[in-house]
Amino acid sequence: MSDCYVGIDIGTSGVKVIAADRAGAIIASESESFDFDRPRPGWTETPPNRWWDATVKATRRLTDSLGPTRIAAAGLSGQMHGSVFLDAAALANATRGPVNALAPAIMWNDQRTEPQRAAIERTLGGRRHCVEASGCPSLCGLTAPKLLWQRENQPDIAARVAGICLPKDWIALRLTGAFATDVGDASGTMLLNPATRDWNDQTLSALAIKSSILPDVLESGAIAGCVTAWASETTGLPEGTPIIIGSGDNQAAAIGAGVVEPGEPLVIVGTSGVVLAPSVEPNADLAADTPGRLNLFCDATGRQDAPGKWVLSGCMLSAAGSLEWARAVLAPDVPFDQLVAEAAEAPPGADGLVFLPYLTGERTPIPDPDARGAWIGLTRSHTRAHLVRAVLEGVSFGLAQIMGIVRDVTGPTARVRLTGGGAKSRLWRQILADAFDTPVAPLEADEGSAIGAAAMAAFGVNAFDSMQSLTAAWVRVAPSTNPRPSEAFQQTRAVYDRLYTDLQPAFAALSATQRPAAEETAS
Ligand code: XUL
Repeated sequence: MSDCYVGIDIGTSGVKVIAADRAGAIIASESESFDFDRPRPGWTETPPNRWWDATVKATRRLTDSLGPTRIAAAGLSGQMHGSVFLDAAALANATRGPVNALAPAIMWNDQRTEPQRAAIERTLGGRRHCVEASGCPSLCGLTAPKLLWQRENQPDIAARVAGICLPKDWIALRLTGAFATDVGDASGTMLLNPATRDWNDQTLSALAIKSSILPDVLESGAIAGCVTAWASETTGLPEGTPIIIGSGDNQAAAIGAGVVEPGEPLVIVGTSGVVLAPSVEPNADLAADTPGRLNLFCDATGRQDAPGKWVLSGCMLSAAGSLEWARAVLAPDVPFDQLVAEAAEAPPGADGLVFLPYLTGERTPIPDPDARGAWIGLTRSHTRAHLVRAVLEGVSFGLAQIMGIVRDVTGPTARVRLTGGGAKSRLWRQILADAFDTPVAPLEADEGSAIGAAAMAAFGVNAFDSMQSLTAAWVRVAPSTNPRPSEAFQQTRAVYDRLYTDLQPAFAALSATQRPAAEETAS
């Protein structure tokens, strides 16, 4: 009977569960989608049990399909920065039956916390001090401002909080009863010191956050606990299966793409768009004028006996998310492939049409919750093909700006590795290669963060000596797409690069009109 390793990835709008054999081949795969809520402009939230219910359904189908294959371990990965608020009863009874979080989790692309973000920056002594303490500047999407928001806006709930964790940690808790997180996800909270890979006591006391509400921090390949009898009955995972805590979806995607050492940066074109570069030292981006243009996070290559390293990364909030939106408003009945094939009919540069992807505000390179999306340069000659091509190009121009910062900090790059839904499109790969002016290489089999979670499971139970040997065995890079940017494309890009600065006052004014009235927000 052969062994397999299960990876469970909690995405923004769906759970993906896979099983891989010891060679990294996928032997089963299931997914289950769910909605997230947008109760107000700029707010995004999900009740954590929506993730759990989807995990149960997908895992149950996966375990049913596996037959006699033994599950040696399961690993987790999840959307980062989301705030799961728990009371003592939820912590105590998570593996005994129905329990709920105290409130919907505030997600990674939520922008409600600007006042709290600014307060944290002031309290910690300014932007540079934030970056020195946590690897990150104070940003709305990170977890710490969400804790302060809740304290100020939901004091009744805040008084009952006995634990706070990240999305995938809720799944670990319900599977095993262990209240734990990993260094990678924890470094997206602003509360961890990435150099020591432990909670930062000074930050906690400055922000009056009790360390008792925080989970134990483990290396990503550590065993959080084992599947309990109740969780086994619910999910089909055998009782006693070791659950590897895993990491944030970005660090997991890096493992899945074999980006575990400095060299090639990784571009992830998912709902968000990320450029990530491994680092062997915990060197935060302390650029003289604007420290923290990139975030320094712990990576997911460690196991409890051997700590991992770090990654520098920048995240744009609406990458494939922009394409999803465009499809929903322009052509909800047209499949993605067809829409993108249509976009290929429009010329590079989209005949002078530029798309700005700031549909949910932006994080990198412009940390501005009030930035807004736009098509600029519309004429009667533009067709749906132009609109969609401009979306693909605009997202790529934004990623190229992040790539520029990554190169500034880590040096030149000869090739870029590509993963995520957007990597599957030949047109988008060409546009990205043109925007980076660098060859881009997708993976032969791209299972994204879920395969990274399965890899952490295999590494966590010592199926491999090192993450390097595991990824060498599991990951195959496909042939690169080479850049051939046209002049029209370059000209459109030059306009893109100026537009945020030109339009910022308009964005601020428009965003103010989109805010709900003050009395409404008070509740
Ligand atoms: C990373 C980030 C996003 C989410 C998406 O900092 O906010 O990439 O992890 O799932």
